Amino acid sequence: MTSEQSTADYIRLLDPAVRPDPYPLFARLRERGPFRIGTAPVVVVTGHADCTAVLRDPRVSVDRSLAKLQLGFMPIYDATKTTAEQVKPSFLFLDPPDHTRLRRLVSKAFTPRVVQRLEPRITEIVDDILDKYSAAGTFDAVTDFAYPLPVTVICELLGVPLEDEAQLSHWSSLLSRTLDPTSRQAPESRADPAELERAGTELSVYFERLTERRRADPGPDLLSQLIAAEDAGDMLTHDELISTCALLLVAGHETTVNLIANATLALLRRPAELAALRANPERAQGVVEETLRFDSPVQLMPRIAADDLTVGGISVDRGDLVVMLIAAAHRDPAVFPDPDRFDPARDNRHLAFGLGAHFCLGAPLARLEARVALTRFAQRVEVPRLTTDPPVYREHVNLRGPAHMPVEFAAV
Ligand code: HEM
Repeated sequence: MTSEQSTADYIRLLDPAVRPDPYPLFARLRERGPFRIGTAPVVVVTGHADCTAVLRDPRVSVDRSLAKLQLGFMPIYDATKTTAEQVKPSFLFLDPPDHTRLRRLVSKAFTPRVVQRLEPRITEIVDDILDKYSAAGTFDAVTDFAYPLPVTVICELLGVPLEDEAQLSHWSSLLSRTLDPTSRQAPESRADPAELERAGTELSVYFERLTERRRADPGPDLLSQLIAAEDAGDMLTHDELISTCALLLVAGHETTVNLIANATLALLRRPAELAALRANPERAQGVVEETLRFDSPVQLMPRIAADDLTVGGISVDRGDLVVMLIAAAHRDPAVFPDPDRFDPARDNRHLAFGLGAHFCLGAPLARLEARVALTRFAQRVEVPRLTTDPPVYREHVNLRGPAHMPVEFAAV
């Protein structure tokens, strides 16, 4: 009975009417504990301790070919095609030893120091955005504010001309749907497989050409550094470079937009918090971390059981998909006292960037962008007012964030 109720609640997560506030549903799912979806090879895990245990368990894999269920995500690798026509699975979908080797090589180019050096440029981009709207007295805090920063930064990092940005965003937004294990079922977030396939191919060909150009004429960008990255004589192959560029582009796009948008929403709903941040920019880091917990840009993470195991008393069979509802784990009172309260000062052991071997490689960049964006927003935008609350949300179940957030203000 409990499992049936949980399955029904899990399916209700797909209902667009739930999107503005899915957290009461997540709370019910967590209170009942982990469950299997009917007789399907899918187990859903909801508590912080259980999610942590799965993320640390060497018997779970990210290799989707091991899943009994044909998964709707990343369907863009087709062994019958030539490399030029497709994006191979990036290291997000690889287990050790391949994952270890690739991650080490990419980490050589994409270091925290490279990210730290970006702070002045990030501040400049945010100020340019705010300058643009200073006279109007209104802007859309998603499309005009949260969106352009991460997109400009990732394009500049990879050395992608900004005029190609709209095209890359289109591919990225289509491909990010494949990160949603629910996208098969949710009618409004279902993407046409042929369209996805085309986006994967076109993106691959785009980076193919860009890589050729950078090989011939290296610059100060991350792609040139990825080409040159070396670890004990080992280097990224051509295919690995293409899939890494695609991963950085897709992973760095919508997630960070959603983090900035969700944090801005949290501040707009809490004027005292916004005033405190304006008075003390040091608070920004706490606001960012609390947003990552309270309204996580990534709401769930999938794994595949590579062996039989047990999670929270539920048997998981080899080949089962294990879905971790980290949005539910983030409100687990066993770890976060008074979990429904937005408290930037709390001790924050959120799982928003994952945990263990696949911990988000872009976390320092995402944190920096969000910190600068919020600090400048608090300092420059006077008496902002959200005109529609709750805002309209994106169709995605996994990547959570508003689609639009019109804001009126006295001055920038
Ligand atoms: C991995 C979240 C921004 C690059 C991950 C994972 C999560 C995550 C949850 C782990 C997935 C798993 O274990 O299955 C986020 C969030 C972001 C963000 C919430 C923004 C708020 C970025 C940015 C970049 C990036 C800006 C790069 C430009 C990556 C990469 C991985 C990853 C390369 C794969 C790491 C691996 O498999 O070893 N991210 N991410 N992310 N992220 Fe992020």
